[in-house]
Amino acid sequence: MTTLEAVAPACSTQLAARVIENVVVAEGTYRLRIEAPAIARTIQPGQFLMVRATKTLDPLLGRPFALYEVDGDSIDVVYLVVGRGTSELSNRRPGDVVSVWGPLGHPFGPPPDGGVIYVAGGIGQTPFLSLARWWSGQASYGGIACPKPVTSSRLLYGVRTAGLAAGLSDFEAAGLPVELATDDGSAGHHGYVTDLLRSRLERGERPVKVIGCGPPPMLESLSKLVAEYQVSCDLSLENHMACGFGVCFSCVAKIRQADGSIDLRRVCVEGPVFPASSVVW
Ligand SMILES: Cc1cc2nc3c(=O)[nH]c(=O)nc-3n(C[C@H](O)[C@H](O)[C@H](O)COP(=O)(O)OP(=O)(O)OC[C@H]3O[C@@H](n4cnc5c(N)ncnc54)[C@H](O)[C@@H]3O)c2cc1C
Ligand code: FES
Repeated sequence: MTTLEAVAPACSTQLAARVIENVVVAEGTYRLRIEAPAIARTIQPGQFLMVRATKTLDPLLGRPFALYEVDGDSIDVVYLVVGRGTSELSNRRPGDVVSVWGPLGHPFGPPPDGGVIYVAGGIGQTPFLSLARWWSGQASYGGIACPKPVTSSRLLYGVRTAGLAAGLSDFEAAGLPVELATDDGSAGHHGYVTDLLRSRLERGERPVKVIGCGPPPMLESLSKLVAEYQVSCDLSLENHMACGFGVCFSCVAKIRQADGSIDLRRVCVEGPVFPASSVVW
């Protein structure tokens, strides 16, 4: 039988990957480490993988997860359990095999010339560990080293409550300063993560680039904020996806084109990264 994995795009690899580790890193949040040498050699920050945890046809579709980190032949993704697919995944143990295909989507481009601020909401912090390590010159991905490291970077990270903050020690180990915001005030700033960016912009700080990833309402308010201060910003969108490689159109986003017209773009193949100014909310 032809499955969606069997028709994955030629530029990506589909493989049965052995689970090395699947550990809790925060409330309802796991870090999955899988052995996937062919993908580990080529994937770059910003790209994602489709992962299917079951051998049966239910659930039929893989689920998309951003690259968190590469370690030799293995790849880490960090995921929050929200439904069937992620719940099945959380039951996989070391030695189990999951179906994986990738890399998918476009990576983040070359680093900006200056300082960058990463803004994450909820589980949207996952692309930023590898990106920060790449753009600071600490690591190469897909055999590509950063030509000129960014001059400074920090992560503004908002979660509903402190227990949901994942990967803080990883960011610290990568030398990336983190400022936390929580909706309930249990850690860091009591309020939205965009408040943290707004106070920096109000104080006159001007990063050459802001990169955002998180739930749509947060990305919408981030887009308005950077537009107000005319700061360049890219967003990594996490729209629902079915196929992951351009055939089903389940993932489309409204994107403004250079001539001002608005068109639907597939987040899985034309994204997931888009300029914030082009996304129509
Ligand atoms: C490019 C990309 C990268 C991603 N990277 C990560 C990652 O690194 N870590 C991570 O935890 N998640 C990530 N996601 C989101 C992740 O794919 C979904 O959470 C996952 O598919 C949910 O599958 P499920 O079967 O558990 O939930 P489902 O049963 O499919 O859905 C459960 C509930 O979650 C909602 N939901 C599911 N997916 C989304 C979504 N994309 N946006 C908003 N609501 C949603 C559904 O409406 C439903 O209410 C990414 C998504 C994309 C497109
Ligand atoms: S997920 Fe099928 S076209 Fe994007």
